[in-house]
Amino acid sequence: MAIPALLQWATGFLMRPVCPGFEDVHAWVFSLDLPSAMQERFSTFLSPAEQARAKRFKFPDDRRHYVAAHGYLRRILSHYCQVEPHALILESLPSGKPRVIGAGKLPEMEFNLTHSHGRGAVAVACGRAVGIDLEKVRVEVDCRRLASRYFSAQEQSSVFAASEQRLPGVFLRHWVGKEAYLKGIGVGLQFPLDQCEVILTEAEERAVIRCQGETGFSEAWTVRYLPLEEEWIGGVASQGDQWMVTVCSVSTLGE
Ligand SMILES: CC(C)(COP(=O)(O)OP(=O)(O)OC[C@H]1O[C@@H](n2cnc3c(N)ncnc32)[C@H](O)[C@@H]1OP(=O)(O)O)[C@@H](O)C(=O)NCCC(=O)NCCS
Repeated sequence: MAIPALLQWATGFLMRPVCPGFEDVHAWVFSLDLPSAMQERFSTFLSPAEQARAKRFKFPDDRRHYVAAHGYLRRILSHYCQVEPHALILESLPSGKPRVIGAGKLPEMEFNLTHSHGRGAVAVACGRAVGIDLEKVRVEVDCRRLASRYFSAQEQSSVFAASEQRLPGVFLRHWVGKEAYLKGIGVGLQFPLDQCEVILTEAEERAVIRCQGETGFSEAWTVRYLPLEEEWIGGVASQGDQWMVTVCSVSTLGE
């Protein structure tokens, strides 16, 4: 079966709340460095537990970024659920994966949050599980050592075949694909990392996830990489191959 186009950019229709169709995943990418008025407003969106968690961060930047990430998560979900951001009730499954319960909950809605180095991203889907991950390319990371430790033999050969220049990007595409998948199925990094393989396509704009052996995770998942600046790698994972990513701008959310 033909694979649909991998990406599109949202246009004005997101001014109205429209849940993604089954073959669509909405991806919102945003800065976590907010103007102070917005930062203050976002902190009012958080639940008492989230406020308490924010207060426990030792470094002010980590606190600010936590408030911005969770403020944006609530603001984005409220866009679909038609409930004020602070009124949404979020709870975590035993694995840690959060979900919406109570007022405004859309039965089929799935979402996932990622944040890293001052940037955040949220994936939203209806009727399909999703995971998202975002990482900043850092030249100081020893990609070969990490690949030898955590990646399958096939992934290692793909990473070791990359030129010095391409190495950080190739390594991170594998890492991001793996983490997005493991967040999508809700287990996170507890899962043995070399037992799910990220197979990059030649153009590296998507990847197929292959799980080895009797892992219990037999569904075929795929990853679509987000169109970001060179020093960032972001990816969304979901079941099957018949879906695309719509990149959404937080500027369409309004005040
Ligand atoms: C989930 C995990 C991969 C996130 O790692 P990370 O480097 O913080 O990655 P990201 O920034 O991409 O994602 C963080 C967000 O993912 C979501 N998340 C947390 N646990 C998750 C899970 N099991 N599956 C999917 N998403 C999860 C949360 O929204 C979290 O945001 P928060 O930490 O600000 O609350 C990592 O924490 C992990 O593997 N944990 C193991 C799961 C675990 O131990 N669960 C049992 C105890 S709760």
